[in-house]
Amino acid sequence: MAIFSDNESNKESLKKNQNNKREKSENLQTKEISFDRSFENNIRPKKLDEYIGQTALKNTLKISIEASKKRNKQIDHMLFYGPPGLGKTTLASVIANELETNIKITSAPALERPRDIIGILMSLKDGEILFIDEIHRLNKITEEILYPAMEDFFLDMTTGKTQTVKTLRVPLPHFTLIGATTKAGELSGPLRDRFGIIHRLQFYTTEELSKVVERTAKILEIEIEKEGALVIAKRSRGTPRIANRLVKRVADYAIVKANGIITKEIAQEALDTLHIDNSGLDTTDRALLNLIIEKYDGGPVGLETIAAALGEDAKTIEDVYEPYLLQEGFIQRTPRGRKVSPQGYRLLGYKTNPAQQSLF
Ligand code: ADE
Repeated sequence: MAIFSDNESNKESLKKNQNNKREKSENLQTKEISFDRSFENNIRPKKLDEYIGQTALKNTLKISIEASKKRNKQIDHMLFYGPPGLGKTTLASVIANELETNIKITSAPALERPRDIIGILMSLKDGEILFIDEIHRLNKITEEILYPAMEDFFLDMTTGKTQTVKTLRVPLPHFTLIGATTKAGELSGPLRDRFGIIHRLQFYTTEELSKVVERTAKILEIEIEKEGALVIAKRSRGTPRIANRLVKRVADYAIVKANGIITKEIAQEALDTLHIDNSGLDTTDRALLNLIIEKYDGGPVGLETIAAALGEDAKTIEDVYEPYLLQEGFIQRTPRGRKVSPQGYRLLGYKTNPAQQSLF
């Protein structure tokens, strides 16, 4: 069962970070390897005020956190949904930190048998947070165990055989469930209805991502110019996870090819080397658009066909690549499949397909 306490891993990563700093004068290779392991945890914001973006959600959360503290009552169950990499897990950890409570992190595929979820629920204490990632993938039995647990803080257990079967209500601690999903539409109605706060995380603006980039560079002790941060932000497809990954790649490039400072020019050069263009699209994004234009006259074409032609998994295309292409208006989803928009044509340097134009 994949479950761990995030606060414990934070402490561990803090220690690793201190070790990293000690090793700083050693060779670059060693530093790079030890950096990688604790990277995600080190750069995670710990407080709401450090968490950049998602302003509407943060305002709702501030009120709920304060109310929960004043009433000394657990905070409502919450559901966060939206494309991957927008900080759903990070936000759950921030909430736990603000409430000075523990968080246990797991994901639906790890909750295979009833005893998996029962074990976790019974291990919780009042006010603690249980975070379940990919919550749309819970199986029916686990989901039904969660209903009374979420609503009344009880487990309904049955004992005995058919003739003598008895139902037992076992009390549970007053915990908070935070669920995260990239597919809110696949959640069952009864489960969705049991969340008090349901919020879609938005893609980040360039300005917000620029702040994320500058913050991460500061934690990594990398010097960055405002213009350099902006270049990275623009090419991070609205996603802090990507922005943070690119900061590292560009920092490596700046250290090896220049004086270690991320300027506008260095950021551009480094990202060009990685084939990440001005719109943040990478080789797979462009191959996807190219395929629909060249082979299917701009579409519509089915997801499975696209996935097979690109040699990618259909789920990866749908969950990772498509959300940003849709948000930026480069493709459209229709009942008959995906189509490239006139904007998508222009992006790849094609003239807009006149036959397609009338369809938009
Ligand atoms: N790192 C990843 N996501 C972040 C966010 N929203 N704010 C600050 N740092 C982050």
